[in-house]
Amino acid sequence: MKDFKGRVAVITGAANGIGRALAEQLAAEGARLALMDIEADTLETLRAELSGRGADVFARAFDIGDFEASEAFARDVLSHFGTVNLVIANAGVTTVGRPAVTLSINDWRWVLGTNLFGVIHAIQPFLPTLMGQEGSHIAITASGVCSFTGVALNGPYCASKAAAISYAETLYRELAAANPPVGVTAICPGTTLATFQRSEERRPAHLPDLAETDPIPPVFREMLAKIRADGLTSDEVARQSIEAIRENRFYVITHPENGHIAAARGNDAAAARNPSIGLPGS
Ligand SMILES: NC(=O)c1ccc[n+]([C@@H]2O[C@H](COP(=O)([O-])OP(=O)(O)OC[C@H]3O[C@@H](n4cnc5c(N)ncnc54)[C@H](O)[C@@H]3O)[C@@H](O)[C@H]2O)c1
Repeated sequence: MKDFKGRVAVITGAANGIGRALAEQLAAEGARLALMDIEADTLETLRAELSGRGADVFARAFDIGDFEASEAFARDVLSHFGTVNLVIANAGVTTVGRPAVTLSINDWRWVLGTNLFGVIHAIQPFLPTLMGQEGSHIAITASGVCSFTGVALNGPYCASKAAAISYAETLYRELAAANPPVGVTAICPGTTLATFQRSEERRPAHLPDLAETDPIPPVFREMLAKIRADGLTSDEVARQSIEAIRENRFYVITHPENGHIAAARGNDAAAARNPSIGLPGS
């Protein structure tokens, strides 16, 4: 997709962080936007800001874990704009810090419902339209670390992001061979300055936190705050992502210094060695 002017771009998790930066930059390129997020107020503020700058924006607040709502959104986006050219499945949440033994079924349903089923719900209803025209593109926000290794204290997130990159690879292979082809990009950010630490505020009401005491070790919270303070800006991640979509590249690797993680998993598996990284402190 060389030119975004007039193209219709769907972005999930658009109200904050990387999604918001993607919306702002694509609006500046002249794209028409279909935005969704679970946070109604921040989404409405963004819609008003972008519309004020002259962008054509359709926005709706709902939970991307809800397939019926996702289908209704897709129907309404297609009837509003007439088509869709780019879908960016970006919404994500985490229970980072919670040891596996403390996780409830609601934690698993929430994180996989948002990060895995949310990706499927974002893409599936638009696939026939995307595949029925020239120049369509799909992007999935995976993770530069957790798509390539399971780290301690982040079980549901790592499971969801491994699944997300796997689905992106499948789509890449299938849709490169389709006629006409559809481009696929996997956005794999390292630590990024966003509002990710507020994930818990985005739990849908039907999947409440069942923990009776704080399951996150305080030392882990301190460590995470330090790591997060060092993150790349969401603007920079969005800039690199839009370049990759423009150039039809699969990988967006914002922190190439993390490359040894994917390499280690591949090498360990090929040699049938125990996992060499992903342990606390490694
Ligand atoms: N921030 C990082 O360090 C980092 C690193 C790697 C990958 N990522 C991934 O980047 C993507 C964007 O996250 P971010 O870093 O911009 O964080 P963010 O929390 O600022 O943005 C995520 C957005 O998703 C929305 N959201 C959450 N649950 C939702 C739901 N059920 N339905 C609809 N919207 C929902 C949130 O309200 C928020 O606006 C996520 O998939 C995340 O996993 C982030």
